[in-house]
Amino acid sequence: MTEVRPSSFYDEVGGHDTFVRLVDAFYRGVATDEVLKPMYPEEDLGPAAVRLTMFLEQYWGGPSAYSEQRGHPRLRMRHMPFHVNPDARDRWLAHMHAAVDELGLSPLHEATLWDYLQRAAHAMVNTFEPTGIGPSRPAGSSALPVHPDTA
Ligand code: HEM
Repeated sequence: MTEVRPSSFYDEVGGHDTFVRLVDAFYRGVATDEVLKPMYPEEDLGPAAVRLTMFLEQYWGGPSAYSEQRGHPRLRMRHMPFHVNPDARDRWLAHMHAAVDELGLSPLHEATLWDYLQRAAHAMVNTFEPTGIGPSRPAGSSALPVHPDTA
């Protein structure tokens, strides 16, 4: 007898190819963003794109490569070294919105994904200091590199 398992959101929207397309389109936008681009520790956005793809795939029921390679996500903590103010959040969301649009998902899948991304982005804000004026690291954040493997 074949095993019947409920399909995941990951499967329903087209699996790996869909998440790769989403994140590629997102980072095409980030690459042109004068506030977001300088935040990325590496000049090449490719490795960051791979991490975000793995995270989103895992979150939506796909393979768990993210946890295998990066451990527990602890996303708020991992963003502490970066100046995530409302301006950065809105820029992040604008690039993500354009990327989600490009996927051409069904209205229900699109609304589900977009709702999550908005909530997650709002939760990531860690400072209200304007860009370039506040401390480069928000108070209480760790001075340790986020990616010891690439530091
Ligand atoms: C709100 C604005 C946001 C900004 C400005 C921002 C910026 C950044 C930066 C600069 C990095 C480091 C790049 C890297 O080396 O991977 C990063 C990592 C990451 N971000 Fe964000 N981010 C934001 C929101 C989000 C949201 C909403 C999510 C999830 C839905 C997310 C998921 C991730 C993941 C998975 C990583 C890699 C973490 C790791 O394994 O080290 N980010 N982000």
